Amino acid sequence: MQKNEEEYGGAPLSAYASAGQPSSKVLEIENLRKVHVRNNGKQQEDLVVIESVNFSVNEGEFVTIIGPSGCGKSTLLNIIAGLESHNGGDIVVRGHRVPSTGPDIVMIFQEDALFPWLTVLDNVAFGLRRKGISKSERRRIAMQYIELVQLGHFADSYVHQLSGGMKQRVSIARGLSMNPRVLLMDEPFGALDYRTREILQQQIQEIHAKTKKTILFVTHDVREAVSLGDRVILLTHRPSKIKQQYVVDLPRPRSSEDPQLHGLINIIQKELKEEIKYAGTDVGNEII
Ligand SMILES: Nc1ncnc2c1ncn2[C@@H]1O[C@H](COP(=O)(O)OP(=O)(O)OP(=O)(O)O)[C@@H](O)[C@H]1O
Ligand SMILES: [Mg+2]
Repeated sequence: MQKNEEEYGGAPLSAYASAGQPSSKVLEIENLRKVHVRNNGKQQEDLVVIESVNFSVNEGEFVTIIGPSGCGKSTLLNIIAGLESHNGGDIVVRGHRVPSTGPDIVMIFQEDALFPWLTVLDNVAFGLRRKGISKSERRRIAMQYIELVQLGHFADSYVHQLSGGMKQRVSIARGLSMNPRVLLMDEPFGALDYRTREILQQQIQEIHAKTKKTILFVTHDVREAVSLGDRVILLTHRPSKIKQQYVVDLPRPRSSEDPQLHGLINIIQKELKEEIKYAGTDVGNEII
């Protein structure tokens, strides 16, 4: 840790354990363990994907997660969202154990499942139907979030008429309109071209500043993780554990020219490469 702080250029960089107040925790992952059962020809084999993962996320915090391909990042988010079971440990959202957290948690995927035959407004308003509020109120709330992602002029367009970046903004508006406690994002910009990704990275920071939502964001891209996160969690190769956590104590909006940002990117990139190297020695493992 000391060495990292020096390489980082003297800016504060400390283990998360020393930051944040326990009272503001919104999400707690305790001793999480996950075993997938994989078909290997005629046999089934157990694949330990997650082993003893512990961390917590504070209210309003933007946490990014990075790790080698196949280490279990999507599995982790799916478990937190209540979409997959786990084999040990607990996930607690504001005192409620997953999977009974309901609308407290909303997930946004790389390629979101929007309804192409509905307009932008109807897509965003759709999720609110379960909340038992009137149609006009649903449309009012939806429109607020459509404006937030700067798609006000496209509210009446059909989803199939939009670009990939615009579709992801609709997904973000739909997720936020549910007013979840935690927004989970699994490589939400992974399928977009470089320029569009940069614009959305900027926008998600602005949205986070305005809404103060708690966000847990998985990415393959170290630069993205450091640019967006208040904190970066680096996972090891499978079975994944937390290798290191980095508090990104840099002002926003962050500049790609900032030498401190570059310093931290280099540190994490080096650590990640180590993990990819280990993963590559594990026969049958997927690496980047
Ligand atoms: N339903 C499943 N059944 C069996 N094995 C699974 C299942 N889902 C995922 N796995 C395995 O679990 C491991 C972790 O998968 P996961 O998709 O969580 O990784 P990831 O870190 O998100 O990878 P990537 O960065 O490529 O998206 C992989 O080895 C994968 O093959
Ligand atoms: Mg994944």
